[in-house]
Amino acid sequence: MLNIALPKGRLGDQVYSLLERAGYSCADFFDGGRKLILEDADSEIRYFLVKPSDVAIYVERGAADVGVVGKDILLETAPDVYELLNLGIGKCRVAVAGKKGYTEDVGSTLRVATKYVGIAKKYYASKNRDIEVIRLNGSIELAPILGLSDVIVDIVETGTTLKENDLQIFTEIIEISARFIANKASYKFKTGRIDEMANKLKEVTGQ
Ligand code: PRP
Repeated sequence: MLNIALPKGRLGDQVYSLLERAGYSCADFFDGGRKLILEDADSEIRYFLVKPSDVAIYVERGAADVGVVGKDILLETAPDVYELLNLGIGKCRVAVAGKKGYTEDVGSTLRVATKYVGIAKKYYASKNRDIEVIRLNGSIELAPILGLSDVIVDIVETGTTLKENDLQIFTEIIEISARFIANKASYKFKTGRIDEMANKLKEVTGQ
């Protein structure tokens, strides 16, 4: 049995389509059900549907052999896994953003709201800029609007959330996309199956 951790939500839909094109279809992907484990008995594959930010934990700890995860999560948590393939989907950017027209006071500590604490700290350290991190878990864009922070460090995909909340990008820190990852021990013992899957995915992504 090959165990695969897949993200739920926005990235999930793109991942399920990609898997389908690569020949790994599972009817239950698109049925809108609440099942968390989907099994394709013929192919001997089991899919676990998890929160996108948790995929790497399942794979690192061996609960799943392989998984699909955003590069943002890999940069933030640095899990001990093999990154086998850039899938080229779920493309977005991690950016510094804030209220339109905001100008930074370089003389004082910058208050940064984010769920990407590691990425934000590393970025500002590279600029020798003192920051205070305000860790949030979602709706990060609210922070500068309410004066909770000066700026945010967050994912921008279509830009719609920023636009609809009168915010703007100041700096793009890094471009990200979804990656196919493997547990290190699983890769040793299931090399054939994992490589086969990576190759099929590679063919359809054109990466
Ligand atoms: C992410 C991110 C932004 C939004 C950006 O949030 O934190 O809020 O998507 O996407 P856009 O540029 O296409 O508007 P998500 O939808 O994951 O929800 P969250 O607020 O719970 O983090």
